Amino acid sequence: MIRKVKGTRDILPPESRLWVEVEAVAHRVFGGFGYDEIRLPLLEPTELFVRSVGEDTDIVGKEMYTFADRKGRSLTLRPEGTAGVARAFIENGLGQRPQPVRLRYLGPMFRYEKMQRGRYRQFSQIGIELLGAATPLADVEVIAALHSFLASLGFDDLVIVLNNLGDPEDRQRFIDLLKTELAPHRDELCTDCQRRWDTNPLRILDCKVARCRELIAETTPVADVVSDEAHDHVEEVEAGLAALDIPVRRAPRLVRGLDYYMRTVFEVVSPKLGEDTVICGGGRYDRLISDLGGARVPGTGFAIGEDRLVEVLPESFRRRVLERPVVAVLPLGAAVAATGLRLTRSLADRGISAPTEVTGRSLKAGLKWAGKIGARAAVIVGESELADDAVIVRDLDRGEQETVKLSEVPEYVVGLFQDAEKE
Ligand code: HAM
Repeated sequence: MIRKVKGTRDILPPESRLWVEVEAVAHRVFGGFGYDEIRLPLLEPTELFVRSVGEDTDIVGKEMYTFADRKGRSLTLRPEGTAGVARAFIENGLGQRPQPVRLRYLGPMFRYEKMQRGRYRQFSQIGIELLGAATPLADVEVIAALHSFLASLGFDDLVIVLNNLGDPEDRQRFIDLLKTELAPHRDELCTDCQRRWDTNPLRILDCKVARCRELIAETTPVADVVSDEAHDHVEEVEAGLAALDIPVRRAPRLVRGLDYYMRTVFEVVSPKLGEDTVICGGGRYDRLISDLGGARVPGTGFAIGEDRLVEVLPESFRRRVLERPVVAVLPLGAAVAATGLRLTRSLADRGISAPTEVTGRSLKAGLKWAGKIGARAAVIVGESELADDAVIVRDLDRGEQETVKLSEVPEYVVGLFQDAEKE
């Protein structure tokens, strides 16, 4: 038997319905905030990620699916979406459009990560990017859109944490200070942090090792060393969110795993998954597009990990999506099969899933099948009733049945489900 590649997953029905519905809500909510969908390649030149995400990050250093194509060009399966959006912005001259440009995207990303709960090698992100607005209000908007999306799914236990990374110039000052403060304890840091010391010292703040955490807790938070402009920017973001009654918590040690961020950075965590399995990450990246050779276009945005989001969906949402109305259509014989499929179509128009029995089961076996697929009712299409333009609708929960005129079947079935909801 051929098995799936490690770190990839098959998302089977009915679970897949949750994904479809989450994505439908994302399209609706982010579309409502003015974000149009951009569909980007899964394959990009490797250099794009090296120059944007950063050479010394975990993603570029050890997690990318990179290979040479038949002509020897180095290609990478995208590990994230922001770099591709920035490339597309430059390449397609989106700077010529009315600014700012609001884009949304969703789809698979690839990272060769160590396997653990909530961490996959192919995973999906849902993201938005707001390009061409440097104001704190732009950050407030993307976080408000995020909050609105999560609220639409029924979440009430997620926490948004936020920090101020300062400007790139502040970052270097901060790194110097961090190293000075940690220098006396350098040999107490774990081996990973010893390596990070030279390659990417900011990542030391992310370390999970207990001793490293103790040492980090003693250091000066990054927000304390940022410029006045950066300080005011993030304060205004916080004030803007407070005005919208969107609770956010300061996380003074929060740094992100990608190099392009500055000033506002944020994450969403769920008490169900713990602080280490982040559901969403984002922030401001005003230098990304110019670093990639474009104009000085500021940007801000985020990406949600859809796999993790689906894992912690509120029970109310799960129930609503998974317990959707199902009706089985049972044509008794080839002569009435077409009527069966016609009924399927008219019920589907009402949002009812109404598969027709197509394997030639008897009535008894058909009713058994209807029960197994979770049907609330069966529409039995028999030749004699059909001669009177009627069918039998059997309520499988109650074990009662009624003869119903063909044209009235959709109305009647919708009524059955409404009654069931009231009970
Ligand atoms: P990121 O923090 O690398 O940011 O990823 C965003 C989210 O993707 C994470 O919070 C997590 O939920 C999910 N994710 C990442 N890796 C995995 C994995 N191996 N398995 C499952 N889920 C995963 C970015 O990618 C930025 N591009 C976000 C952004 C957009 N910033 C500004 N705009």
